[in-house]
Amino acid sequence: MTQSDNSPGRSNQEYLLIAKNIKKYFPIKMSSKVMTHRIPLKAVDDVSLIIKRGEVIGLVGESGCGKTTLGKLLINLISPSEGYLVFNPSEELVKDLGKDESVEEKEFRDASMYNLNKRKMRQLRRKMQIVFQDPYSSLDPRYLIKDIIAEPLLSFGIRKDEAYSRSSNLLREVGLSDDFVNRYPHQLSGGQRQRVAIARALALNPEFMVLDEPTSALDVSVQAQVLNLLENLRKKHNLTILFITHNMIVARHICNRIYVMYLGKIVEEARTEDLFAKPMHPYTVALLSSVPIPNPKTKRSRVILEGDVPSPITKPRGCSFHTRCKFAFEKCGWTSGEIVESMNYILDPTRNTVLETLPALSVMEVIDENRLKISYFGSLSQEQGETIKEVINKERREGKIRSLFGISSISLENGSILINVFESIRDPVLLTSDIEHLVACWLYEEKNSSAGSIIERA
Ligand SMILES: Nc1ncnc2c1ncn2[C@@H]1O[C@H](COP(=O)(O)OP(=O)(O)OP(=O)(O)O)[C@@H](O)[C@H]1O
Ligand code: SF4
Ligand SMILES: [Mg+2]
Repeated sequence: MTQSDNSPGRSNQEYLLIAKNIKKYFPIKMSSKVMTHRIPLKAVDDVSLIIKRGEVIGLVGESGCGKTTLGKLLINLISPSEGYLVFNPSEELVKDLGKDESVEEKEFRDASMYNLNKRKMRQLRRKMQIVFQDPYSSLDPRYLIKDIIAEPLLSFGIRKDEAYSRSSNLLREVGLSDDFVNRYPHQLSGGQRQRVAIARALALNPEFMVLDEPTSALDVSVQAQVLNLLENLRKKHNLTILFITHNMIVARHICNRIYVMYLGKIVEEARTEDLFAKPMHPYTVALLSSVPIPNPKTKRSRVILEGDVPSPITKPRGCSFHTRCKFAFEKCGWTSGEIVESMNYILDPTRNTVLETLPALSVMEVIDENRLKISYFGSLSQEQGETIKEVINKERREGKIRSLFGISSISLENGSILINVFESIRDPVLLTSDIEHLVACWLYEEKNSSAGSIIERA
């Protein structure tokens, strides 16, 4: 049996890393007058992924969707709430993927990096490094550049003279001359500082690097230079890279494959060219709609992403994108609370003369996630109930207010209107459109193999 390789040497296996069902929930303190309690902020919520050796994987999504947290989890810089992470998985583990669930679970548990003791983890740590966005805060201002780069080498027992000689070589590799060795970080420009951060990350000859927005704090001209440098270093050092970015143009330029993240979940995964040619998830479509297309004959309509990303503390039910999705339909996760605002709008008698003859609206009560009760002053008659139902149904048929798709029934109960929304809501899971294109969206649920892009449908 081949073991998952947690040894210090380099491996040549095809797969570098497998993450299975990883979650990171941060406990957030909530205080009221009566008590203090903690509720989970779901920064990363059940992510599974496979990274092959030599790939440059893009991780994209809006601010706050969990990219940095996932990047840190993938090098075990922070520990997960749940899940497994296997680095250099054994052939056997790869072979068993998707077969017997209990066997798979055991193999993952035994091989997971999260279960390694401190000594073993320290050995493995050198194989994976991270470079953060902000070169101003990631380098200790009290140390000379040569000490900053030599530090990881010294901490792994490399002799002092060798560590400093390697430190100079690394600086040259990232395009900085020997003059820089005796300078402090504040004596460098932003681009030069980021080069130093890259040199330090390379010092221990890692296999895997997480680059977290490595160029976004730099001027555009410097960004291009640093990106070119990274591309050259990747080839020379045979690196596998997770590249976190907001910038879809940069992602298209340097990544082989892209993961799109929304509120802690991966919602689409594809080879870069496939993702740009045929984005499937409505969120990806919106993200890409602002990216210029190289072929002027191809038209792409601009999709404006309305509203902010909801809080990961109170994630929307079902598909968490449903509050902003212009394709959302019945089963996407609407709750009764989400239709209150629409009801106030629709049932406003100043908008609709049919409603003027009714008694005044008294209260809208969210009974639970699935039921909304609308009461009027006085009990509604059957006829008045029918009038209200027809007003709501007309808006539903027009389809302009998407939350109304969530309504499963409207009835008159004891003189009030009772609205039910669809229950049994599940999160959409990643489905295969083709073997290398996965999407988590109910639009593709049944016809996954022949699913067309919603760009084509729109
Ligand atoms: N240590 C922490 N404690 C509590 N909440 C945290 C912590 N770290 C991150 N979060 C929260 O987790 C969510 C995801 O944060 P994360 O930094 O991973 O997002 P991101 O996609 O990298 O955002 P950005 O693009 O702005 O860098 C956010 O709501 C953030 O506030
Ligand atoms: S499941 Fe698809 S259609 Fe429904 S809200 Fe989510 S992204 Fe939109
Ligand atoms: Mg981040």
